[in-house]
Amino acid sequence: MQISPSILSSDFAHLADELDRISSADWAHVDVMDGHFVPNLTLGLPVVESLVAVSPIPLDCHLMIDDPDRWAPAYAEAGAKSVTFHIEAAKDPVTLARTLRAAGARASMALKPGTPFAPYADLLPELDMVLVMTVEPGFGGQSFMADQMPKVAQVREAVRRHGGEVWVQVDGGVSASTIEQCADAGADVFVAGSAVYGADNAADAVAELRALATNHSH
Ligand code: DX5
Ligand code: ZN
Repeated sequence: MQISPSILSSDFAHLADELDRISSADWAHVDVMDGHFVPNLTLGLPVVESLVAVSPIPLDCHLMIDDPDRWAPAYAEAGAKSVTFHIEAAKDPVTLARTLRAAGARASMALKPGTPFAPYADLLPELDMVLVMTVEPGFGGQSFMADQMPKVAQVREAVRRHGGEVWVQVDGGVSASTIEQCADAGADVFVAGSAVYGADNAADAVAELRALATNHSH
């Protein structure tokens, strides 16, 4: 059970300090948005390169961008240990996943709430993680979509049948009041932005989320 706080909800003027606040977490989730794939613009490769240099924990880069086939490999080459592309934007996901792994990153595929998993189940051998979005990607602080839990369970079941080490991540509206149902459905990596950075003590929030998820692990 791993916690990946999203720095989208942190103070962008003090990113190094904000990473230190979550040093007890497993990953730092970095939301890259290009203003095209989603209607928001955040940060890109130069900032990620700087974050890799100072982060006490590995970076989990979630690329909400068009043409990940072209742009995603550079994030792995920059040192991000997990790189997630959206399947809705990828042209050749097999080649992309192989390129990410060859560059030393875990390769991950994300699904928007309206995107089904079944057409992409054959990609599991190429993947280290599947991200099931529990909000419409683009902004932090949105309401959790419980209607995505059957998809989480479906991915978990496919991973079980496949037999590999593929993690199942949820992202969007994950908090102390929603994380247990995610764990029950089969998620094992939990992104939380506002629930961690909005807390008085980020480390306490990480510990609480991890404990809740662990109590509901399979
Ligand atoms: C949304 C981003 C999320 C976001 C989560 O598009 O992918 O990572 O930061 O924020 P919360 O946890 O506040 O929903
Ligand atoms: Zn994200």
